[in-house]
Amino acid sequence: MDLRSEISMEKLPEHIAIIMDGNGRWAKSKGKARVIGHREGVKSVREVTEVAARLGIKYMTLYAFSTENWNRPKFEVNALMNLLVETLRKEVPTLNKNGIRLESIGDISALPKKSQNALEQAKEKTKGNTKMSLIIALNYSGRDEMVRTVQKIAAKAKDGVVKVDEINANFISNELDTKNFPDPELLIRTSGETRISNFLLWQIAYSEFYFTPVYWPAFRENEFYEAIIDFQQRERRFGKISEQL
Ligand code: IPE
Ligand code: IPE
Ligand code: MG
Repeated sequence: MDLRSEISMEKLPEHIAIIMDGNGRWAKSKGKARVIGHREGVKSVREVTEVAARLGIKYMTLYAFSTENWNRPKFEVNALMNLLVETLRKEVPTLNKNGIRLESIGDISALPKKSQNALEQAKEKTKGNTKMSLIIALNYSGRDEMVRTVQKIAAKAKDGVVKVDEINANFISNELDTKNFPDPELLIRTSGETRISNFLLWQIAYSEFYFTPVYWPAFRENEFYEAIIDFQQRERRFGKISEQL
């Protein structure tokens, strides 16, 4: 069935965020090492990113490495960091071909130097692209972002740059890592887990959640369309009643 034709182009979300989960279990189910699952997961990243840009999604945020993921075995953390560098280097031409600008959220300063460099270069080389922003969350967690943001705001208040009573929701949004991006209308999590795991806590205040049992390496074009079609069937009321919409 051609799912793409079921998508209503007038009701496309502007920003989709994805918790890409299940690489390890996907590998295990095939009798393979976890790292093989991460490699296969990169193929899903490539496919979903291209499809999103082609559809006309403006922002896509991918949870790639959380502040909690440092607690994994050292071998896996290293493999993930190496895969990141390899992928960033390899994908720049494709990003440019598809008009995709690479951006990031999270505390990049704590990543290995070579990851930081690869990321900076990929951002620099794609900064002129305007079709879609691909935002990778690296060493990111919602609470860590809030802590860093509160520290920044407190310093501004102390220095008299902002008055305490000028700090409102809008001001806070403009100090977060995500200050240049609208809040996601749709949040997808793969692998059957129904938790947020410290992802965009502030920004998902009114997001629609879509949970699927599909492991991330198996989440491809059609699965992505299914999520968007599901989203488009919902009524987003923002506290009002149906008749007011
Ligand atoms: C998601 O897959 C990728 C990262 C968190 C980096 P997992 O590695 O969490 O896979 P599972 O959840 O163990 O199956
Ligand atoms: C969330 O997945 C983080 C990323 C996808 C990068 P995890 O696999 O780390 O989350 P938990 O441990 O199941 O909550
Ligand atoms: Mg997981």
